[in-house]
Amino acid sequence: MKIITVSNIKGGSAKSTTAIFLSEALSRRGKTLVIDLDMQADLTDYFLPDLSPEEMDKGNVFKLLTGECDFATAVKKGEFADVIPGTIELSQLSVRVMQNYSILKRLDTLLKENRDYDYVVIDTPGSARSELTVSLVACHTILIPVIPSKWAIRAVNLLLDEIGNAREITNKEHSVCFAPSMFGKSKKNLDLLERLKSLEEFHTLSPIPKSESIKSMAEKRKKLKTGSVGWLAYDQLAEEVIQY
Ligand SMILES: Nc1ncnc2c1ncn2[C@@H]1O[C@H](COP(=O)(O)OP(=O)(O)O)[C@@H](O)[C@H]1O
Ligand SMILES: [Mg+2]
Repeated sequence: MKIITVSNIKGGSAKSTTAIFLSEALSRRGKTLVIDLDMQADLTDYFLPDLSPEEMDKGNVFKLLTGECDFATAVKKGEFADVIPGTIELSQLSVRVMQNYSILKRLDTLLKENRDYDYVVIDTPGSARSELTVSLVACHTILIPVIPSKWAIRAVNLLLDEIGNAREITNKEHSVCFAPSMFGKSKKNLDLLERLKSLEEFHTLSPIPKSESIKSMAEKRKKLKTGSVGWLAYDQLAEEVIQY
């Protein structure tokens, strides 16, 4: 079972889009579970557009972490992947963690007990919150979407600090990969790509191009067209992520 956290402590850095289409590409290769640890719930909206409020209240990632529902109740069947939905209640997770520090390790423990997935993809919020720590403690691979903006790159240093903190809890040696996203062919973009590739302690994966169809398909909650530029880019990303 390969557990992948998609994270960058910066909103708008293509985390959710990467998590969505990477999950689709992985689901063609094996049984996939998607976990939405972002209270914005973009993955939940994409994968479970018809989830009723009652179903959501019965089981979701917040209740799972706080021990108010079991794993089977938290997992919902999506079209091609299982999904543990995220909810706005995640805004209270940090307070719960202060009362009960073991929450930080709960997802790690639950995934060790429920190993019938080939791939697990976790989306995280664009800030250094407890949800991020929970996912870093549980995962092996950290995928950092980097878009060509100086702020997104600055945020990488903050994320590396968070990874260091998570390692104190778990002792895990994470594999850290950059997933360049929204990259064009301008000299500025290509120079930045070279800069990322020169950082030897991280793997820089093949870039995802900036594409109107990626944006609109995510917004319309549709799959990318098989064989389209976007589809091929995420398919390649999945192939590479599996190796790390
Ligand atoms: N490859 C891409 N090409 C064009 N637009 C993209 C691409 N990836 C993401 N976007 C757009 O960028 C915006 C931010 O992406 P999102 O995945 O929501 O970021 P985050 O989850 O980090 O906040 C969204 O409007 C999304 O549709
Ligand atoms: Mg997001």
